[in-house]
Amino acid sequence: MKILFLNGPNLNLLGTRQPEIYGRDTLASIEASVQVRAQALGVSVEFRQTNDEGQLVTWIQQAKGAVHAIALNAAAYTHTSIALRDAIAAVELPVIELHLSNIHARESFRHHSMIAPVCRGQISGFGALSYILALEAAVNVN
Ligand code: DQA
Repeated sequence: MKILFLNGPNLNLLGTRQPEIYGRDTLASIEASVQVRAQALGVSVEFRQTNDEGQLVTWIQQAKGAVHAIALNAAAYTHTSIALRDAIAAVELPVIELHLSNIHARESFRHHSMIAPVCRGQISGFGALSYILALEAAVNVN
């Protein structure tokens, strides 16, 4: 079983980006802990990050038939992207929406997720642990 983790804009800056909100873990260290858990579960994980909306759309499209599920931190595109929502709806793969911070406890513009209705569920607010929880969800969803 393969799980694809996709990370959107500015997540390459984790570690130094607003650590009071996002913590001090880098994306590389989060990936390392996800890989450890994936190994224990006997699944394969691929981890990617891009700042480009169109690249995320392309990766979601290409995932159809290639992976069991996608764990997606779409970052700011969560709140704006109809293109991402359409791509998720089109591929008919289980997509787990994930966020480090609790988007519902922050600015009102973050309360709305454009992608939530087409995702299987949402994990939000557990810091780096959100990624492990998303892995558990992605592995067990069908
Ligand atoms: C985020 C929350 C988004 O609102 C924000 O734009 C991000 C990161 C999170 O992981 O908490 O870039 O997705």
